[in-house]
Amino acid sequence: MYHWARDCFAADQYRIKGFLSAKPTDLDGFEIKAPILGDPLEYVPQANDRFLFAIGLIDVKRRLIDALVSKGAQFERLIHPTAIVCNTAKLGTGVVICPFVTVSDSVRVDDFAMLNFYASCGHDAHVGAYSVLCPYATLNGFAVIEEEVFMGTHSTVTPSRRVGHHSKISANSLVSQNTQPHTLVFGVPGQHKRLFTA
Ligand SMILES: CC(C)(COP(=O)(O)OP(=O)(O)OC[C@H]1O[C@@H](n2cnc3c(N)ncnc32)[C@H](O)[C@@H]1OP(=O)(O)O)[C@@H](O)C(=O)NCCC(=O)NCCS
Repeated sequence: MYHWARDCFAADQYRIKGFLSAKPTDLDGFEIKAPILGDPLEYVPQANDRFLFAIGLIDVKRRLIDALVSKGAQFERLIHPTAIVCNTAKLGTGVVICPFVTVSDSVRVDDFAMLNFYASCGHDAHVGAYSVLCPYATLNGFAVIEEEVFMGTHSTVTPSRRVGHHSKISANSLVSQNTQPHTLVFGVPGQHKRLFTA
C-alpha cells in the first residue's frame, strides 16, 4: 500500500504521514520511510488526516475501520494508475484498487472493498462492502459477492452467480452455483461447506 499510495497521490499534495499499528516493530526490516504513529484503536484522527487500509483479513479490517470511522476518520479511495476502471463503475468510500485490476462497465464496488492486483470484475458485477479479491480473482458479468466475502487468489465466480455474505472462496476454486451466507467454497466445481458462526 505504501508503494501504491506513492504512485497514486502527488507528493506536492499528500505526505505519507505514517502507519497505524499496535506493534511498534511492524515496519522493521522494510525500506519504508514513514513511522508507526500508534495503535489504530487509540489514534485520534487529525483534521487533515486521510486514511487508507492495508489489511487483508476482513474481520480485522472491519473492526479497525469501524473504530476509526466512529472517531471521524476520513478515508481515501486508492485507484492505481495501471488499473482499468470504466467510467460507469461506482466505487464506494475507502475502496482500494491495486495495479492491473480491471473494473468493467456498470460494476459496483461498495465501501472498503479491496481488489488486489490483476483481479477483475466483469460488466454489472457487484462487490459487497469490506470484501477482498485476492490477486487474479475474477467476478464474471452480473456476478455478486455480498458483504465481507473473501475471494482467494485465482478464484472465479461465474456469470450472474451470487455469493452470500461472510463467505470464503478458496484459492483456485470455482463458484458456479449461488451460495448461502457463511459458506466456504473449495475446488472445481466448488463444493460448499457451512462455516461456523459465533
Ligand atoms: C479461503 C481460505 C482462506 C479459507 O481458509 P481458512 O480461513 O483457513 O478457513 P477456515 O479457518 O474458515 O476453515 C474452515 C474449514 O474449512 C477447511 N478448509 C479451508 N480451506 C479449505 C480447502 N481449500 N479445501 C478444503 N477444506 C478447506 C478448514 O480446514 C476448516 O475445516 P474444519 O472446520 O474441519 O477445521 C483458504 O482456503 C485459501 O484459499 N487460502 C489462500 C488465500 C489466498 O489466496 N491468499 C492470497 C493473499 S494475497
